[in-house]
Amino acid sequence: MSRVSIAVLASGRGTNFEALVHAARHPETNGEVRLLVVNVPDAPVLRRAEAEHVPAAVIPHRRFKTRAEFEQAMLAELNRHNINLVCLAGFMRILSPVFVNAFANRIMNIHPSLLPMFAGLQGIQVHEAVLAAGVKVTGCTVHFVNTDVDAGPIAVQRAIAVREADTAESLALRVLVEEHQAYAEAVKLFCTGRLHIEGKRVRVIDVGSSPGA
Ligand code: GAR
Repeated sequence: MSRVSIAVLASGRGTNFEALVHAARHPETNGEVRLLVVNVPDAPVLRRAEAEHVPAAVIPHRRFKTRAEFEQAMLAELNRHNINLVCLAGFMRILSPVFVNAFANRIMNIHPSLLPMFAGLQGIQVHEAVLAAGVKVTGCTVHFVNTDVDAGPIAVQRAIAVREADTAESLALRVLVEEHQAYAEAVKLFCTGRLHIEGKRVRVIDVGSSPGA
């Protein structure tokens, strides 16, 4: 099985980008992060890409008149690098159906809650909403991206307990540790051909068995 060529799309800090780069260095992952695409010119994730020797393309959305033009520029870059899998990692733009369909079932996203709860929020807002709702368990979700925001088929989730003393910041830190593990696991499952999407469900198949087994 040939190695899967991965691009990460990010807008900010880049800890998930870094976790994916490190995970892909294990041969059993069967993937390689070949490109970082960033839409914010001074995003800290760019320094991580430099340190990890991953090529980066800066494509600022503000430089384009329309979302369609911005997305065409990203698609051209992804195609130029023969990318098979796109991983959104703190990428703070919503992708149109044109982009999503160009990589149908080949775009994953990490979200810092147990979807479908707390969908449609970003970063720290998610953890604030978790505390305000009083739920006792939270976590993270890696899902395939479809044309509905934060609603695509779920590949991997990891859960943690909410503690009495938690703040949004302390929750964000503990969930982030789980995010790095969950994303690495999901990408490995994808790159080794073990994820089968059936409607809203993602089946994780054993090596050597058929999805119906
Ligand atoms: C992560 O916590 C990710 O789950 C979240 O942004 C953070 C990016 O951190 N994404 C969303 O909230 C998407 N709705 P990172 O740049 O260090 O990977």
